Amino acid sequence: MRKSLFSEAVRDRALSIAGVEKGRIAADIGAGTGFITEGLVRKGLQVIAVDRSEAMLAEIEEVRAF
Ligand SMILES: C[S@@+](CC[C@H](N)C(=O)[O-])C[C@H]1O[C@@H](n2cnc3c(N)ncnc32)[C@H](O)[C@@H]1O
Repeated sequence: MRKSLFSEAVRDRALSIAGVEKGRIAADIGAGTGFITEGLVRKGLQVIAVDRSEAMLAEIEEVRAF
């Protein structure tokens, strides 16, 4: 579902424009399946991911293993 919304290239461009920096801590509020969280982790940030949906939080567990 996430890739039908926007691609990893678009995500990476958005994170680049946002000026995210390795070693920083980010809060991903409404993290959903963790698509943005994953992009942040890949860039070397620590991420606090928050979502009100237990089902979404279960999916995001996969990102923790990254
Ligand atoms: C469009 S999805 C987010 C997509 C996600 N950012 C990604 O990169 O794939 C919106 C998410 O926000 C969550 N959400 C909506 N209202 C919220 C709230 N008040 N507190 C926490 N999460 C919320 C929903 O459960 C849903 O998973």
